[in-house]
Amino acid sequence: MNLKEMVGIEAAKHVKSGMVVGLGTGSTAYYMVEEIGRRMKEEGLDIVGVTTSSATENQAKELGIPLKSIDEVSHVDLTIDGADEISQAFNGIKGGGAALLFEKIVATYSKKVIWIVDQSKMVEDLGKFPLPVEVIPYGSDQLMRLFTEKGLHPVLRQDEQKNIVKTDSQNYIIDLHLEQIKDPDELANWLDKQVGVVEHGLFLHMVDTVIVGYEDGPKTLQA
Ligand code: A5P
Repeated sequence: MNLKEMVGIEAAKHVKSGMVVGLGTGSTAYYMVEEIGRRMKEEGLDIVGVTTSSATENQAKELGIPLKSIDEVSHVDLTIDGADEISQAFNGIKGGGAALLFEKIVATYSKKVIWIVDQSKMVEDLGKFPLPVEVIPYGSDQLMRLFTEKGLHPVLRQDEQKNIVKTDSQNYIIDLHLEQIKDPDELANWLDKQVGVVEHGLFLHMVDTVIVGYEDGPKTLQA
């Protein structure tokens, strides 16, 4: 079993019948969603899912997981999602899969959020992984210039065919190649104020439980 599958299955143990569950996005969250689907079929687990991307929505539908949108539920009991980097302070970078906006909305309305990662994602400081920023297409060249002037090393995300990547909300992603983010709160506050920025991939002070996959098994870390 690979490390991503290991933590996906481990995290799904936190899901109980009656819960509204936020279903994250990415290659690690994939295994958690599969395991929830299996438990529903084989163990009678009874939940409602709130998905964070069209990719997860398609997967959940195929598994027969009943779904509601974030606007059809009063709250989410538990969200389980992957991350691109997690610092020692349990802050994270997300959005490698371009789903950061819905992921942050669902996490914000969740009573509890658990991140699942393999050990390679655990870092001292954030920033080696380029920070995704979702922006409105109109004015995105201006934002590229602004980010360059500020020394944030922006790269407009393109796919392998060199087409500009569009998010589920038809926005663009600008990846900031920062290497090290010394003060994530300061950067997040600055990004929040820039016109045309829809959301950024700094997920700060949101999570107190991380399940990490190591070769010798999953470990649950508490903040
Ligand atoms: C999606 O936009 C991301 O936030 C993912 O949750 C993150 O990139 C982790 O993905 P993997 O589990 O595929 O590494």
